[in-house]
Amino acid sequence: MSTMSYSKLTSASVQGVDGCAIAVEVDLASGLPQINVVGLPDPSVRESVERVRAALRNSGFQFPMQRITVNLAPADIRKEGTAYDLAIAAAILIASAQLQERHFKDTLVIGELALSGELCRVPGVLPMAEAARRIGMKRILLPAGNAAEAALISGMEVYAASSLKQLAECCREAEGWDSLLWRGDERPKSSSAESVNASATDSVWAENRLDYSDVLGQHAAKRALAIAAAGRHNILLSGPPGTGKTMLIRRLPGILPPMSDEESLEVTKIYSVAGKLARLDTLITERPFRSPHHTISAGGLVGGGSIPRPGEVTLAHRGVLFLDELPEFPRAALESLRQPLEDREVTLARARAVYRFPASFQLAASMNPCPCGFLGATAGGAQGQPECSCSQTAIDRYRSRISGPMLDRIDLLVEVQRPESIDSAQSGMSTADMRALVQRAIQAQQKRRPGFDVLWNGELSGVALRRAASLQPEASNLLQQAFDRLGISLRARDRILKLSRTIADMEGCEVIEASHVAEAIQYRRLPGWS
Ligand SMILES: Nc1ncnc2c1ncn2[C@@H]1O[C@H](COP(=O)(O)OP(=O)(O)OP(=O)(O)O)[C@@H](O)[C@H]1O
Ligand SMILES: [Mg+2]
Repeated sequence: MSTMSYSKLTSASVQGVDGCAIAVEVDLASGLPQINVVGLPDPSVRESVERVRAALRNSGFQFPMQRITVNLAPADIRKEGTAYDLAIAAAILIASAQLQERHFKDTLVIGELALSGELCRVPGVLPMAEAARRIGMKRILLPAGNAAEAALISGMEVYAASSLKQLAECCREAEGWDSLLWRGDERPKSSSAESVNASATDSVWAENRLDYSDVLGQHAAKRALAIAAAGRHNILLSGPPGTGKTMLIRRLPGILPPMSDEESLEVTKIYSVAGKLARLDTLITERPFRSPHHTISAGGLVGGGSIPRPGEVTLAHRGVLFLDELPEFPRAALESLRQPLEDREVTLARARAVYRFPASFQLAASMNPCPCGFLGATAGGAQGQPECSCSQTAIDRYRSRISGPMLDRIDLLVEVQRPESIDSAQSGMSTADMRALVQRAIQAQQKRRPGFDVLWNGELSGVALRRAASLQPEASNLLQQAFDRLGISLRARDRILKLSRTIADMEGCEVIEASHVAEAIQYRRLPGWS
């Protein structure tokens, strides 16, 4: 019997979308052979014991016939998932003197074990590696399938194994883990695949196959979309069928401001946790554009489950959530958006913990003005345009699906009509033209950034908003009048102010003028809506 009967390794878990280090302790004592896991483990972690038992045997090790206690600390964090398998297995092997502790010094150990002893990928490695760096660890051992993702965190030595057997063999060799050191793919890396710290890379606009030059007419809607993109404002397009609403919003990704490195890392972490990284060796550099179908549930939209998973609003963090045909979404789903639209994060309370997910998304939505779609449609010079056939009750019921508080959170309400005539329906602004408008507003916002903790006008509130938005006296009067006469809420008043800020930024004006406020007020109402 060996003298060593205790060992301690470091693993990690994910809480919401952030990683945190977890100590895995194993103690072997004499007594009836049994194994206990303590420290608030979820059933998925208890199953880990069975996988570890089989994996050890199938890799040629002995499973100690002793009383084994596995402790996961800190005890107040709920442990779930399969990422602790490898740490538990390795700690048992060390405590029973089948492996040497020195190999694992200062190393974060992550990975799921198959019964065969193969190592399997786990979700959330990016935030786990970030957590390791935060506490000053420099080494990480994980399944080969997760190596590229962990290497996105610069300054980490990444060791990748494909099985417990391979790991054990390396521990026996003179070179130790040298052959496990992950040196990257042979493929040449793109610039965005550089480590997170390489922040000198120029941010670039997203590639988008869809160009705004495809959309004829709709000059006003294009301008409104440029404003929305420039300040990250929520926007709703309303109009008859076939006028180009879906087309217009589908082209939005091409004019969204490029993401900063910080934003890229945040988004990539979310996709890592959700197990939705399309490419494992690069950060996501394009703003997410999510367009869930209207059959989605409230849980799908904001996140849910007994151990909550991020929903569409979190997957759209730093990007766009596109809700096409807004009134078709279940009322409960739409109402669930109110909190994240206001707080820019989702909080989900569960019995043992409160989970927080970031949700700073921009809402872009479309709808028809009534169930048949033709209410208030202008003939646009044409004969035989269908007329609205809906009863007032039907119209009211349709509109009531989008509550007042919901509309209050949308900065730009835009009516889209059939173009007047083919003459006036030249293509108008292309994606490149609209980017030029957005670019000017980006620069103005960046100039103001020092001193503010948020960058985008649409995200400003309170003191930061008031400091950013200085108004000419006439502009200030106009805003006051609108507040008195239109009976708008204080929230709506702030939204007009933010929107005016973006319009002024697009025109290169430091102080907001009356014309900017006037345009912003116009976007508060849809014709025919009370
Ligand atoms: N302004 C436009 N310029 C060019 N093509 C257009 C325009 N509007 C509509 N179209 C054509 O009509 C098709 C339907 O447009 P789109 O789906 O964007 O309409 P919509 O306003 O979303 O209608 P609905 O209310 O029925 O969803 C497009 O694929 C395109 O071929
Ligand atoms: Mg449509």
